[in-house]
Amino acid sequence: MRQSGSPRTFRVKSFGCQMNVYDGERIGELLADKGLSAAPEGEDADLVVLNTCHIREKAAEKVYSDIGRLMKAGGDTPPMIAVAGCVAQAEGEEIMARAPGVGIVVGPQAYHRLPDMIERATQGQRATDTDMPADAKFAALPARRKVGPSAFLTVQEGCDKFCTYCVVPYTRGAEISRPFADLVSEAERLVESGAREITLLGQNVNAWEGEDARGRRVGLDGLIRDLAKLPDLQRIRYTTSHPNDVTDGLIAAHGEIEKLMPYLHLPVQSGSDRVLKAMNRSHTAESYLKLLDRFRAARPDIALSGDFIVGFPGETEEEFTQTLMLVDAVGYAQAYSFMYSPRPGTPAAAMDGHVPRDMMEDRLQRLQAALGRHSLAFNRASVGRTCDVLVERKGKKPGQWLGKSPWLQSVYFEGEAAIGDMVRTDLIEAGPNSLAGRLAEFAHA
Ligand code: SAH
Ligand code: SF4
Ligand code: F3S
Repeated sequence: MRQSGSPRTFRVKSFGCQMNVYDGERIGELLADKGLSAAPEGEDADLVVLNTCHIREKAAEKVYSDIGRLMKAGGDTPPMIAVAGCVAQAEGEEIMARAPGVGIVVGPQAYHRLPDMIERATQGQRATDTDMPADAKFAALPARRKVGPSAFLTVQEGCDKFCTYCVVPYTRGAEISRPFADLVSEAERLVESGAREITLLGQNVNAWEGEDARGRRVGLDGLIRDLAKLPDLQRIRYTTSHPNDVTDGLIAAHGEIEKLMPYLHLPVQSGSDRVLKAMNRSHTAESYLKLLDRFRAARPDIALSGDFIVGFPGETEEEFTQTLMLVDAVGYAQAYSFMYSPRPGTPAAAMDGHVPRDMMEDRLQRLQAALGRHSLAFNRASVGRTCDVLVERKGKKPGQWLGKSPWLQSVYFEGEAAIGDMVRTDLIEAGPNSLAGRLAEFAHA
């Protein structure tokens, strides 16, 4: 640990979910507000913030190898290391004991206090703060700065669902919703700073509720309806949803609000009702499929996405096959799939019937092959469509641009454009992960 001198430059490395990406951006803004500057690419930083994820064992172990690498690379003057995020929350004391090079441990609900902790660490005092004051941090953070065309906005945090395999209720705490007015003003700020698309984030984003400007209780659809009134905001998305918090209003919103993009990430985890019950998911395969039918009725072209876990304790081959059947029944546009990873302190970790690793690997491979086929089929079915693409960055080839379709597909095209443009594009060729497009005539929207 550095003994003297306040850090002047910083780097934030975020792992895990989009909410961590959002927190990482806000940590960066906070540090910049305090006069530190982001270390240029390729240069060592005085302060490194590792914004960590605890969801699976591999993710959690990564923090220790990263700390080791930073200490080694720093030689006699290693950087000040701050461990933030969900590993900090779950294993704060263990990190302090195991990694003497770490000066600061700060949980996901306490990072607004980072400047004080840096001050203390500069004096040689290692500092830990894993308090959970829930929404206090947002009020203490500086206003949003310059952002790209597609921005994240955390509206809800925490989780009360306690799926038996999952650490999130422990690392992020109970469900809280940020106030409506704060979200509208942060969204306005993001749009002023250049955002054309906002993705509303929450561990259970559709559990968000609040009081709108007229004092009415509203759910996520009410918030979306209001945000859609911002003239320069062109697209709204939200993630991640839980099947149990889906409301009629949210489904209807997909048919009524043009700016709400036709995309839904609704994790299911398994196609077996026995496994779902053991996971404490409180939905069945059938109730999940019925929900999707209702979204499709409201918005027939909606692209569907989900999360899956293979090898949950006790999962039989037949139960796994039910997951494959569900995948075929849905025809996902895109999905995330994982091998079950036992997490300390969760009920599933103590269950019988842990599935051997080679069996999990085999199931994951078969599941991913099925998901890959469906993604390709979905992308192929898009060929021939003309749609708006929001340009997010330059492509690898000169003159090439990369953007997103309404269905969240990556689209490459060549021609005249700029980051932040919304361009009419013909989709001409499909791969499993992206599409080639061609600027349509009268391109600029
Ligand atoms: N709140 C969201 C996502 C939470 S974490 C939801 O409820 O769907 C993202 C995904 O990680 C989960 O959907 C699940 O598929 C996966 N996951 C969570 N805990 C896991 C574990 N112990 N092992 C493997 N995958 C896990
Ligand atoms: Fe974890 Fe379940 Fe909560 Fe999602 S709903 S964050 S999987 S406990
Ligand atoms: Fe990971 Fe925490 Fe997100 S455990 S997935 S960073 S909520």
